[in-house]
Amino acid sequence: MEALEPVAARHGMVVSSEPRASAAGVEMLREGGNAVDAAVATGFALAVTYPFAGNIGGGGFMLIRKADGSAAVVDYREEAPAAATRNMYLNAQGEVIPGASTVGALSVGVPGTVAGLALAEQKYGRLSLARTMAPAIQLAENGFPVSYWLSEDLRAHQSLLTKFADSRRIFLRDGNFYQPGEVLRQPELARTLREIARFGPGAFYGGDVARDIVRTETKLGGIIALADLAQYRAKVRKPLMGSFRGYTILSVPPPSSGGTVLIEMLNILDPLNLGSPDSYDSMHLIVEAMRRAFADRAAYMGDTDFVRVPIQGMINPQYAATLREQILRSKPDAPVAAGRPGEYESSNTTHFSVVDANGDAVSNTYTLNNGYGSGITVRGAGFLLNDEMDDFTSKPGSPNMFGLIQSSANAIGPHKRPLSAMTPTIVLKNGRVRLVLGSPGGPTIINTVLEVLLDALVYKMDIVRAVAEPRFHDQWAPDTLFLERQGFSADTVEKLQQAGYNISFRRSIGECEAIEVDVKSGWRFGASDPRGHGQAAGY
Ligand code: GLY
Repeated sequence: MEALEPVAARHGMVVSSEPRASAAGVEMLREGGNAVDAAVATGFALAVTYPFAGNIGGGGFMLIRKADGSAAVVDYREEAPAAATRNMYLNAQGEVIPGASTVGALSVGVPGTVAGLALAEQKYGRLSLARTMAPAIQLAENGFPVSYWLSEDLRAHQSLLTKFADSRRIFLRDGNFYQPGEVLRQPELARTLREIARFGPGAFYGGDVARDIVRTETKLGGIIALADLAQYRAKVRKPLMGSFRGYTILSVPPPSSGGTVLIEMLNILDPLNLGSPDSYDSMHLIVEAMRRAFADRAAYMGDTDFVRVPIQGMINPQYAATLREQILRSKPDAPVAAGRPGEYESSNTTHFSVVDANGDAVSNTYTLNNGYGSGITVRGAGFLLNDEMDDFTSKPGSPNMFGLIQSSANAIGPHKRPLSAMTPTIVLKNGRVRLVLGSPGGPTIINTVLEVLLDALVYKMDIVRAVAEPRFHDQWAPDTLFLERQGFSADTVEKLQQAGYNISFRRSIGECEAIEVDVKSGWRFGASDPRGHGQAAGY
């Protein structure tokens, strides 16, 4: 757990879920690299030191905002392989086959991380891919001492990892579990990383690594083909923009739902008096905003390269006003259906945040989906593969692993990207970066980002307090309000129950890695969520 003081730095700051990965980013900044160089180094380092979610076999979103005012999203979300079909996870009776989309070869989407990080480095970085990958290669080759937390986590995931021979061998040492302090070396992964550093992303999407992926997939009954890897491209997209009480909110568009749902909720809440944090009155309003935005997500959202999504309607303040009126008129927890956003034509995951000396910022969330993804390690190449296919709608109306109900807008289709909830976000004040943040946690990501934003911007908490505050989550379906077990007063819980909310407690929700910039002094303040074991590091 981090101290209750933020880490302060004058020049640059990296906050991630793993201390060595944060250090790799700071190493780039000290060398004159920019925020993107630091983010790329952190992303590759996490693939070595944080196998739970750090990855080269998954995908994600990188939001980049330069001090010159330009901004871009690198969408490196996984894609469905060409042979994927709408009903591939249904049995002859039309029921979802348990586990088919979450474990093993059929659950794997075509990985995007290597393409995304390489594109970001080449287009927006100052150093080289080889330089930014050097810390990761060292960590894979020479190894690093396993922390208490990694040791416990690997053991906790033995039932998944033990199903696949290479995962069992590398991460569980065939049952001789890594003890804290023992060194984990990953020579196969080091070789893969060296190839990418030397020959670029083509070494992953073609050549030996691609052949290793396809061989592993085919042997285990998967459908990813060499052509799927060869055609994969990361895409540069325009960030989604909203405003909230004088701040500009930058976040990500589809195929993530994160930015859209976040901005819809902020629009609903903008003019409301939110009272005091974690009181019944504030939580009731926030939860009702969550329920409505998540209902719209369920009804409308999918990959906009394939389906039409009323994004501009969903993030329109006039639409938010109609939902706000509805909230103020209705009883708490009254049934909610998706709204009618119209067009208003007038628009188990890990996160890291970076700010450099120049004021450039990167907010990056990437994932294997489940912790350790599909459980499969690519034979000979030493990295885990995602199970991102579960983020598609296996069957409309049937919940996925996060309990999310989704529509046919998010149905499986060749080369389509599954709808995500990742919400890497940057907040600006008068055109300058004020906050950089994001979180893992499936659908809880969006609400985690919302709550940290409200704590920082409405309740004026410093970033450590904002990140540590107790969290709650409602995603419309199931009709349940999840509360962190610690932190809410008995009185508030009772009032919520009396108002009709079905309360369920969780140990923790989300893991926010955030940076706050004092726009007057320029100091950077980093906060790694006390729910995790990450680190804010700066210079
Ligand atoms: N895999 C979780 C998400 O993208 O929302």
